[in-house]
Amino acid sequence: MAQQEDVFKKIVSHCKEYGFVFPSSDIYDGLGAVYDYGQNGVELKNNIKQYWWQSMVLLHENIVGIDAAIFMHPTTWKASGHVDAFNDPLIDNRDSKKRYRADVLIEEQMAKYEDKIQKEIEKAQKRFGDAFDEAQFRATNARVLENQEKFDALHKRYQEVMNAEGGIDLEGMKQIILDEGIVCPISGTRNWTDVRQFNLMFKTEMGSTADGASTIYLRPETAQGIFVNYLNVQKTGRMKLPFGIAQIGKAFRNEIVARQFIFRMREFEQMEMQFFIKPGTELDWFAKWKETRMKWHQNLGFGAENYRFHDHDKLAHYANAATDIEFHMPFGFKEVEGIHSRTNFDLSQHAKYSGKKIEYFDPETNESYTPYVIETSIGVDRMFLSIMCHSYEEQQLPDGQTRTVLHLPAALAPVKLAVFPLTKKDGMPEKAQEIINDLRFHFNCKYEEKDQIGKRYRRMDAIGCPYCVTVDQQTLEDNTVTLRDRDTMEQRRVAISELRGIIEDQVSITSLLKKLL
Ligand code: GAP
Repeated sequence: MAQQEDVFKKIVSHCKEYGFVFPSSDIYDGLGAVYDYGQNGVELKNNIKQYWWQSMVLLHENIVGIDAAIFMHPTTWKASGHVDAFNDPLIDNRDSKKRYRADVLIEEQMAKYEDKIQKEIEKAQKRFGDAFDEAQFRATNARVLENQEKFDALHKRYQEVMNAEGGIDLEGMKQIILDEGIVCPISGTRNWTDVRQFNLMFKTEMGSTADGASTIYLRPETAQGIFVNYLNVQKTGRMKLPFGIAQIGKAFRNEIVARQFIFRMREFEQMEMQFFIKPGTELDWFAKWKETRMKWHQNLGFGAENYRFHDHDKLAHYANAATDIEFHMPFGFKEVEGIHSRTNFDLSQHAKYSGKKIEYFDPETNESYTPYVIETSIGVDRMFLSIMCHSYEEQQLPDGQTRTVLHLPAALAPVKLAVFPLTKKDGMPEKAQEIINDLRFHFNCKYEEKDQIGKRYRRMDAIGCPYCVTVDQQTLEDNTVTLRDRDTMEQRRVAISELRGIIEDQVSITSLLKKLL
């Protein structure tokens, strides 16, 4: 675990050193849980967004996009339930003065019991080899049974406090923390305050006070911008059910426990799609979107074993199914995307609060109804982090040297091709520029002439550039170059005229999209 934490720290510094992610307002020592994307980060982020947008809007005839404003009429958030219920239960440790989410402390305690069970299983697996029977081991091993019992008891109590009549039972939550002997990781003490609720929305004022300013909110999710535009899009686009509306945009949450770099931010970006369907068909569509979204993730080639679904035990009052897609980060399996069956809750609430009829007239059955909704909601920044974590490698080379390489999927890499003149003379720089001038219309190219070739390769490996080309003396004679592959480091001689054909298909988003069909 400590080793994994070290790797994570290295990834964070790598992101800064190579222009991927900087702390916001860095010269003023940063701003908590707010980050800026640098020259390479913005390219990677844009490519992630393109991959998502095109997989939704280009590959589905019945999905269209919108771009709604961040500021919305304040009643939106009353109707959606965010004003009254978008809260986190918080607890402070009086000795360290650190603040925690009480639900997270309890969930981490449950994860500890699960980890202990897993460790016993792994040990036994090694001992018994092929003869190992996991089901039998789980049913009979004393240490596994003891931890399973503790997990089940805690899980049951947690469910009870989370689903208590009239909202979360805050006193019950504190009691669990005390009974489980959960300590503050900083002070190591159990000197806890009571648990209390904290609303996560940022507020600001619109208009001058003399005019009668009104409180408005920075949107905490992009989804509501879609719901309030359902009628506009359905009517002007003459959309027939089932159909979807996709959107990418910023969202803001005053996260109290903002940790793990860009995993939990106060300003972040979401890619959300609301799929409007006929009531009664929601569980079929839910299953279909689970499969479609998992395929989108696994299509990046990071290995199926690094993903899992986490079906929710506790459903929001308006949802009738919900799951997370989790990715194996260096700090454990963590949510990257949520898929929710939201019933007709949001549209009905907006109909109630706006006084407008928000329905669909079904020409097949001649009836009007409020559509149900399946939502897919993924954080761009979390996706970015999962890609960085999986791609980062400190590689030992056969000659005893090491290199740091980002094995980014070529279609997402910020720079696709680097072109180097071997030396700065004999017309090599001009030839290299000529190659770039020809290829820059097709993919992102970079020119580099500083330092010896080996160092230039290392710099490109560190930003995940899949291909490097070197212009040398022979190039001037026969118009061929060496083409080096980032992952294998193999070099081969190819004609300049072939470069586009070799590289373009490998680095295009289209190549990723084709694998989805
Ligand atoms: N409209 C549904 C919704 O917003 P959510 O589970 O709260 O659902 C969806 O958020 C996704 O947004 C999460 O799976 C995560 O990837 C991302 N996300 C949520 N809060 C975030 C934060 N504070 N920082 C970064 N990403 C966040």
